[in-house]
Amino acid sequence: MSIDLLLGLQWGDEGKGKIVDVLTKNYDIIARFQGGPNAGHTLKFDGFSHVLHTIPSGIFHPTALNLIGNGVVIDPVIFQSEIEKLIPFKIDFPKKLFISKKAHLILPTHRLLDAASEASKGKAKIGSTLKGIGPTYMDKTGRNGIRVGDILLPDWKKRYENLKTKHLKMLEYYQGKIEFDLPVLEEVFFNAIEELKKLPFVDSENLLHNAIKDGKKVLAEGAQGSLLDIDFGTYPFVTSSTTTAAGACTGLGIAPNSIREVFGIFKAYATRVGSGPFPTELFDADGERMGKIGMEFGATTGRARRCGWIDLVALKYAIHINGVTQLMMMKGDVLSGFKTIKICTSYKTKEGSIEHLPFNIEPEHVTPMYIELPGWKEDLTKLTSEEQFPKEFNNYIAYLEKELETPIKIVSLGPDRKQTIFR
Ligand code: GDP
Ligand code: IMO
Ligand code: MG
Repeated sequence: MSIDLLLGLQWGDEGKGKIVDVLTKNYDIIARFQGGPNAGHTLKFDGFSHVLHTIPSGIFHPTALNLIGNGVVIDPVIFQSEIEKLIPFKIDFPKKLFISKKAHLILPTHRLLDAASEASKGKAKIGSTLKGIGPTYMDKTGRNGIRVGDILLPDWKKRYENLKTKHLKMLEYYQGKIEFDLPVLEEVFFNAIEELKKLPFVDSENLLHNAIKDGKKVLAEGAQGSLLDIDFGTYPFVTSSTTTAAGACTGLGIAPNSIREVFGIFKAYATRVGSGPFPTELFDADGERMGKIGMEFGATTGRARRCGWIDLVALKYAIHINGVTQLMMMKGDVLSGFKTIKICTSYKTKEGSIEHLPFNIEPEHVTPMYIELPGWKEDLTKLTSEEQFPKEFNNYIAYLEKELETPIKIVSLGPDRKQTIFR
């Protein structure tokens, strides 16, 4: 067993990119298994900040191989701009970044369909990142999609034209009119396809199988979060992929019994970007303070993230579904200065108090119930060991560990690589 999994337990943006970057030195391969450029994973070191969308967060390590698995959807245009931003780092991409031939491509018309679908929904919109994620996964499961390996085949342009024609018909269906200049979008797209071809396209399931056989260590990097999972998230306000542990099996072609540790990563509070229920959301000065100090703005879209207290009902659900073996708590530093810290431990419903996540978590169905713990005043961002933690912060950690029945092995106290404490 030599594959470890790292995934988000909330609504995304837990700090997955930072921790994958920190852990990469322990691994030979870092593999993304789902999602696409809707993700924004931020890494900070040496005074610089980098946001990755499709490229795995192990790319800055000198030797690790980074793999984009079959479960990922790739927009060649965004991918090309990611590569261009990394030029100053002199990364040997053809040696360090491989792409599964079975990964699906996001076409310009997928993005248009995403925009038209959202525009037609009005207030009921998902709050999609508008990167074409939903329509691309729809074509995948509808068996119409175009895969990375297909672009090497002689008939691929014909398949592209067929799919595009279908998409243009579909666009006519939507009420909300969107403006676009397809020839311009296509020119950029086909140029980016040529750039994509410079990287090795591989049978990634085979590569991973052999790597495991040779004793190599693999870390699978999740995108989004468990509550955005297509099956187990707050449907329909979710993304279109399996963000939970099962997604690593289907998104990389690995067997469940090859998985060793499942690292579940969460913020010391909670955030959500886009629409959908969020029981512990705050609309007051406390929420504003979290957003301001935590700099809670989307790494992909720049939208302000909604903020609220930690929700143990939702966290326990995510831990169960994923089989989490170790927890990592991020952004504890952001809570410094709150007089008391609230923790949601149950929901009040018409049927009484419950501690499991029910089918519907809209405000008319559940009211979050809290306990309160004393807060701490100290700035945590410069601490270098657990011994220096204020006693109230230790209490908070101990309470969460007891309730979640899982050890918290990493405590992150700032965005930088160095602001990471192992326990
Ligand atoms: P990801 O999508 O899960 O990789 O997370 P994002 O990069 O979208 O969002 C996490 C944000 O929090 C980024 O801006 C990080 O630089 C920042 N961050 C990560 N860990 C910490 C931490 O422990 N404390 C603080 N203050 N910021 C953090
Ligand atoms: P990372 O990997 C936070 C949200 C969107 C929207 C919903 C559907 O950085 O944690 P989509 O574009 O997938 O159709 O949007 O999911 N969303 C994310 N929220 N972090 C992400 O990724 C997200 N990826 C998608 O805001 O509500
Ligand atoms: Mg993010």
